[in-house]
Amino acid sequence: MIKKCLFPVAGYGTRFLPATKSMPKEMLPIVNKPLVQYGVEESIAAGLSEVGFVTGRGKRAIGDHFDLNYELEREIAGTNKEEYLTSIREVMDKGQFSFTRQTSMKGLGDAILNGRRLIGDEPFGVVLSDDLCLTEAGEDGVLTQMVKLFKQFRCSIIAIQEVPEDQVSKFGVIAGDKIKDNLYQVTDMVEKPSVEDAPSNLAIIGRYILTPDIFEILETTSPGKNGEIQITDALLEQAKNGCVMAYKFKGRRFDCGSVEGFVAATNYVFENVYNKQ
Ligand code: UTP
Repeated sequence: MIKKCLFPVAGYGTRFLPATKSMPKEMLPIVNKPLVQYGVEESIAAGLSEVGFVTGRGKRAIGDHFDLNYELEREIAGTNKEEYLTSIREVMDKGQFSFTRQTSMKGLGDAILNGRRLIGDEPFGVVLSDDLCLTEAGEDGVLTQMVKLFKQFRCSIIAIQEVPEDQVSKFGVIAGDKIKDNLYQVTDMVEKPSVEDAPSNLAIIGRYILTPDIFEILETTSPGKNGEIQITDALLEQAKNGCVMAYKFKGRRFDCGSVEGFVAATNYVFENVYNKQ
């Protein structure tokens, strides 16, 4: 029912300079796999195998990663190194990839609006691949959990997590009516509030399922915080006129756009995933 997932990957990744000066932050490896591949694997596992990237200047490595590298294939064919390509070959087998570009980086809302031509008029997922979301082996991935909720409620679903009060200013933060355990109907949303202005400590993280009316709303959304077109502003509009649910997902999330989160994710994956393969 939901087949498509958008990956906005046009941002500058300034928190990770100088590493991200000429390399996309989405290609930073967590152990031996780039961040964006983790996100795409999560999307395909949720049944969203039509993957659309909103890229920008300096992001060609992402397209190359999901394409064949003939020289490399020929070089290692028949050797024991072929096993290193197993996971990306599987992703390339199962996924269909398309690309569009955001020419000026006017914010996440603008990046999603640029993705409209890849999505059309249907509900779709959004993954911010610098948020690495991991669940235990055998458990549903975060996007899979959200797709299940979408089937039940048929409205936009945003992933949230509780964060310490002094961290709220790094996130979009929601207020909502509790529908059941871990699920809220959104009544308010503030982008990067101060502790005093934060309506709760429920912070929005980089996983969304959006209904396509969000595009119409984004068309008329004015620049908000930091002069960027904010998806939170458009979602608040959607919440006022219809329904937006916020879901406290099961699993772990690492902010790999920050050095601290990246190091924590690397240690966690090395100990708990890579060493157990
Ligand atoms: P971030 O704010 O985390 O990414 O945006 P950034 O701007 O790349 O990083 P910093 O803050 O400068 O270090 C969240 C996501 O939205 C995308 C980013 O690529 C990231 O995946 N994004 C953001 C766009 O695609 N376009 C934009 O104009 C802004």
